[in-house]
Amino acid sequence: QRPTLLAPSILSADFGALADGIREVDQAGADWIHVDVMDGRFVPNITLGPAITAAAARATDRPLDVHLMIESPERYLEAFAEAGAAVLTVHVETCPHLHRTVQQIRELGVAPGVAINPATPVDVLRDIAPDLDLVLVMSVNPGFGGQSFIPASLDRIRRTRDLLTAVGSQARLEVDGGVTPDNAASVVAAGADVLVAGSAVFRHPEGAASGVAALRSAAG
Ligand code: DX5
Ligand code: ZN
Repeated sequence: QRPTLLAPSILSADFGALADGIREVDQAGADWIHVDVMDGRFVPNITLGPAITAAAARATDRPLDVHLMIESPERYLEAFAEAGAAVLTVHVETCPHLHRTVQQIRELGVAPGVAINPATPVDVLRDIAPDLDLVLVMSVNPGFGGQSFIPASLDRIRRTRDLLTAVGSQARLEVDGGVTPDNAASVVAAGADVLVAGSAVFRHPEGAASGVAALRSAAG
């Protein structure tokens, strides 16, 4: 298994001091910066768009891992690529022409990812997995930070890992939602190699750098 990457989600950062928050987790050893884009349509919440993504890119040299929780994401791929996304992840639930959308991301020179919600069968990833650099298994229903990890996600992570192995995909397996130092080891043992964490990092009582360190030691 490859080294586990940590991707703090800026959704739980102080947006009034966003660059400082990003620099803090960057210096603490975060591998990627996870950017949660929500449209108030696909998910109930509205967060940020390309302008804030570009501001995040100016604050760090770490890859920006942009998670699009928006309807018709194909309309905005170019804008997020220009804003500095290194990874662009779309939800299978929003993409009737998923293969085309994945190719569009690839043509923009960005690494394509596909996310699935907690009730979406993992097998939907099978035919697209060979074209992906990342699959994202949601371990909460997307929309808000600070929710509890859904326990059934562990089995879904295992089945997704098996699927990637079966099709010979080198895609990374990212898990997003309710990841904490308490469950990180079991999430990694189930097959994850990228951990997203919002509140466990940015709401850590001793600060975000301590949050990254706690996750790093738990994830192994
Ligand atoms: C949920 C977002 C997550 C979220 C994670 O809709 O996609 O990235 O910010 O936050 P925590 O780690 O607090 O669950
Ligand atoms: Zn996310």
